[in-house]
Amino acid sequence: LKPYVLAIDGPAGAGKSATARGVAKRLGLLHVDSGAMYRAAAWIAVTAGADLDSEVEVLRAVEGVRFEATEEGFLANGRLVGPEIRSADAGEAASRVAVHPGIRRQLVAIQRSLARPPGIVMEGRDIGTVVFPKADLKIFLSASVEVRAHRRFLELESHGEAADLAAIESMIRDRDRRDESRAQSPLLPAGDAIRLDTSELTLEEEVALVGRWAELGRRGPGPTTIFYWFGSRFVKVFSRTMLKFRIEGLDHVPRTGPLIAACNHISFWDPPLVGSNFPRVLHFVAKAELFRNKVFGAMLRGYNSIPIQRGLRARSGLLGAEEVLNEGGAVLIFPEGTRNKSGVLMPPRAGIGRLAAVTRTPVLPIRISGSNQIRRSLRRQTLVRIVIGTPMTPPIRADLDRAVENAFAVRVMEAIAALPGL
Ligand code: C5P
Repeated sequence: LKPYVLAIDGPAGAGKSATARGVAKRLGLLHVDSGAMYRAAAWIAVTAGADLDSEVEVLRAVEGVRFEATEEGFLANGRLVGPEIRSADAGEAASRVAVHPGIRRQLVAIQRSLARPPGIVMEGRDIGTVVFPKADLKIFLSASVEVRAHRRFLELESHGEAADLAAIESMIRDRDRRDESRAQSPLLPAGDAIRLDTSELTLEEEVALVGRWAELGRRGPGPTTIFYWFGSRFVKVFSRTMLKFRIEGLDHVPRTGPLIAACNHISFWDPPLVGSNFPRVLHFVAKAELFRNKVFGAMLRGYNSIPIQRGLRARSGLLGAEEVLNEGGAVLIFPEGTRNKSGVLMPPRAGIGRLAAVTRTPVLPIRISGSNQIRRSLRRQTLVRIVIGTPMTPPIRADLDRAVENAFAVRVMEAIAALPGL
């Protein structure tokens, strides 16, 4: 059994620890705070009288120290590392120690060894980029500097430490700069990370949202029909051998969890070309009329197509798609609602904004070009190009506001337009 790995990264004060702990508890997974390892290493080095800016001295100090992650917390040489590493100074020291490549290598090796079934929620700065580049789900938390400083202020106060808000704010700015600009493992979101700004979210909302994505992600991709399996492999081989074809950004696709792939629409080739070359099973939305013919309808269903249903229960007008997303699947949607052979991008319909908001699903913008000239591509005269962007976070508290949903749909179309075409 493969462990489920949820990577939560982000800067200090973005809410990583509380979110990671809450989600791990909800899913029954081990929570590992990788920052605590850097803090413990720094603390051990300071205790040993090492110069923190000297990699050799720090390495010598921590050499042979045994680190363990347990349900109770973090152990160094069998001893629980406690409040001594929680001060602002300890954080500062950790950040200085964390620039040394040799230290990072050692701690990363320990971090990787902690991934055991049923799985882990690991928080840090480089978990999705370096420690677990193939994590099942990656979340990158952020929040404004002001919000993060205020949170750290309250946290330090709760430990009984005297704190100065302005000083914390400037320390956070400095630490961000150091973490973002260091040569090894700089603090940057992975291409397939879902970015979540927590400035205006409560902890409960964060845990509910990330917990939902991870819980659905853990269920796996669900059953596939033989018809889909063969069909998508056939089209994939066809596109990669017969066409002049290129796909970019495959490493931007979150491996698990609900996902809306949003693509511009210029040819009836778009669903099979995107679907078969996408690294996850996709479900397609199609007009209900197409399913009227029994044989063709059965084929469409076999190929993961869902008829668009309208009605009272369909809050987004896309009931079948809601069902797929609520089970953790991925759906391909054409936000423009209809095909435009000319290749010009059109304004979106509201559907995608509503669907993303109602099901709280991240959206992956995709741009296809050249598929309206398949014959030229067969003759190697035109490139069929698919470019996958990075995940967009859905409107989170938009249930009551159509304007927010429509604005999100427009943003999705803008993100598609911003991707390179031919
Ligand atoms: O998250 P926390 O504030 O406990 O981390 C302390 C410091 O450890 C960070 O400022 C960062 O420099 C370093 N760190 C890191 N990589 C991680 C976790 C923490 O470089 N995965």
